[in-house]
Amino acid sequence: MSHIHAEQVLEALKKVMDPDLKRNIVSLGFIKDLVIDGGRVAFKVELTTPACPVKALLQKQAHDVVAALPGVETVDVEMTAQVRAAAKKENTDLIPGVRNVIAVASGKGGVGKSTTAVNLALALAESGAKVGILDADIYGPSLPRMLNVTEKPEPGEGRKMAPIMAHGLAAMSMGFFMDESQPVVWRGPMVGMAVEQMLRDVDWGVLDYLVVDLPPGTGDAQLTLSQKVPITGVVIVSTPQAVALADVRRGVNMFLKVDVPVIGVIENMSYYLCPQCGHRANIFDHGGARAEAEAMGTVFLGDIPLDIVIREDMDAGKPILVARPESPQAQRYREIASRIAARVATMGFQESRFPNIVVE
Ligand SMILES: Nc1ncnc2c1ncn2[C@@H]1O[C@H](COP(=O)(O)OP(=O)(O)OP(=O)(O)O)[C@@H](O)[C@H]1O
Ligand SMILES: [Mg+2]
Repeated sequence: MSHIHAEQVLEALKKVMDPDLKRNIVSLGFIKDLVIDGGRVAFKVELTTPACPVKALLQKQAHDVVAALPGVETVDVEMTAQVRAAAKKENTDLIPGVRNVIAVASGKGGVGKSTTAVNLALALAESGAKVGILDADIYGPSLPRMLNVTEKPEPGEGRKMAPIMAHGLAAMSMGFFMDESQPVVWRGPMVGMAVEQMLRDVDWGVLDYLVVDLPPGTGDAQLTLSQKVPITGVVIVSTPQAVALADVRRGVNMFLKVDVPVIGVIENMSYYLCPQCGHRANIFDHGGARAEAEAMGTVFLGDIPLDIVIREDMDAGKPILVARPESPQAQRYREIASRIAARVATMGFQESRFPNIVVE
């Protein structure tokens, strides 16, 4: 029986390409713990995110190219992940353990930003990543209701507050400290300070992704966030109406001005699926966000239907990812979360802070 060499195995594995990073998995440094024992070959493939959309495909390809080598009897491929931090700006280390900050923004209010942010965070966490969610909407915090949090945060280690753990997410919101019935009166600069405090004075620990739910528009919270922490990228949520689309353009340009890369655009309430007959109605002009994203030179991440169960579950404090994990809607969120994770991983690899973006 011919002896198998590690070089042969690695040479074979070079045929497997990561479609997002556009390099082979050997040169990307993904192959770990290669063990050859007679005809048995075992190794790990360490991806840059557990939410990798092509995990199963890469595993099969890695298995098959090695299995085809002469003398190989069995191949054991273990898929693991190590989320890498995106390139960091200097002197902005308020949250040293957080590898990637993903902001969720919109030009207009009420487009479903918070709903989308929460479900995407849950989808990322479900894949095995450590995920936090920060409600940067100081005027109208949504997290207490959406995650059904009634307890108040307690001081954790040192002098920092511990985030509230809800459905596996580390969560923080100004709403956790307040009574829902009490109106909040904040002046502009206080909004920025509150956001800064929720970054610096909260013990976020080690997180692969911190999802930040921003208030609508381009105000103090957006500015503070982009100045105080290195945002890996921003996801823009839009509905399909033309007015909302104009906001997509404004949003993209605003973030580019403050040096924040755009991960892509999501179209929420994209179409209506009748729960009775399954008929699909494009209440608004479906598909506008995709065209707008492409026109702006950024990525369209996917669409989410207008669906009553998404709202009902959220209002009940049990997001659809938790309440109906098997539903097609939950699957939609997972697909989009995978695309975001893949984009974030790609951005971490690229030198340019502005992949695919063309400013008009
Ligand atoms: N895909 C969807 N299908 C049905 N209802 C949805 C969907 N997305 C969001 N909603 C509902 O729309 C309403 C607004 O959503 P949400 O609070 O997430 O918007 P937002 O953009 O965060 O708003 P704000 O600008 O006030 O922060 C909520 O009642 C929510 O449950
Ligand atoms: Mg909101």
